[in-house]
Amino acid sequence: MNIKIFDTNEELDQVGGNIIASLVQTKPHAVLGLATGSTPIGIYEQLIFLFKKGLLDFSQVTAFNLDEYVGLPEGHPETYRTFMNKRLYSHININMNRTHIPNGDAPDLEAECRRYDSMLAGGTQIDLQLLGLGHNGHIGFNEPDHALSSGTHVVDLKEETRKANARFFSSIDEVPNQAITMGVGSILKAKMIMLVVRGESKAEIAHQALTGPITTELPASLLQTHPNVVVLLDKGAGKYF
Ligand code: GLP
Repeated sequence: MNIKIFDTNEELDQVGGNIIASLVQTKPHAVLGLATGSTPIGIYEQLIFLFKKGLLDFSQVTAFNLDEYVGLPEGHPETYRTFMNKRLYSHININMNRTHIPNGDAPDLEAECRRYDSMLAGGTQIDLQLLGLGHNGHIGFNEPDHALSSGTHVVDLKEETRKANARFFSSIDEVPNQAITMGVGSILKAKMIMLVVRGESKAEIAHQALTGPITTELPASLLQTHPNVVVLLDKGAGKYF
């Protein structure tokens, strides 16, 4: 595992954005696994910056997002689809038909999970999966549990996760109780994984996940089993390394 700690968030964003950018430059048909939350925003800004300078072409890129809330209507400001459009897709030349996010408002959620998995099956392999980290060690919305699902599934969000994400809604009651998430199996199938963690409040969980026992009770610890993981930490999150 290649762990890098940065003095500033600007440096982290540049390095993170440049890793994705070099992949897209060398492999125009790259398949990216993308994430939401506050963590990847600066990395997306770096990609937009490089695109606007004429250094990147996303027209052949395919993107799969990790997760989506259940039950928010299409166009709701807090769906992850809205987030991706606003924070990245509307600023670059990606073909929207190649951007995939689970539909959390589908009438049959089980069928939606199977549909998502079928797109991730066969010859499709994610070249680079970007990940943030939840305060409880979740990746995507794979919450700590005695067992974890391999494929895309519906998950009941933990109270701590709903609380952490309440800052994006007008009250905690509006935070959905469920989400659809890619499973840990699908995440680990990516050729390369880039885990990004910011802030001292995640220092302990990041250290435990990357150096402690591998357990489904700390989903990010399973990343230790992957052969090609780069971890980008800001000073706060890297406090115990
Ligand atoms: C959210 C998302 C995750 C994200 C994590 C951290 O709930 N489902 O994909 O990585 O929690 O979020 P943030 O980056 O806002 O701290």
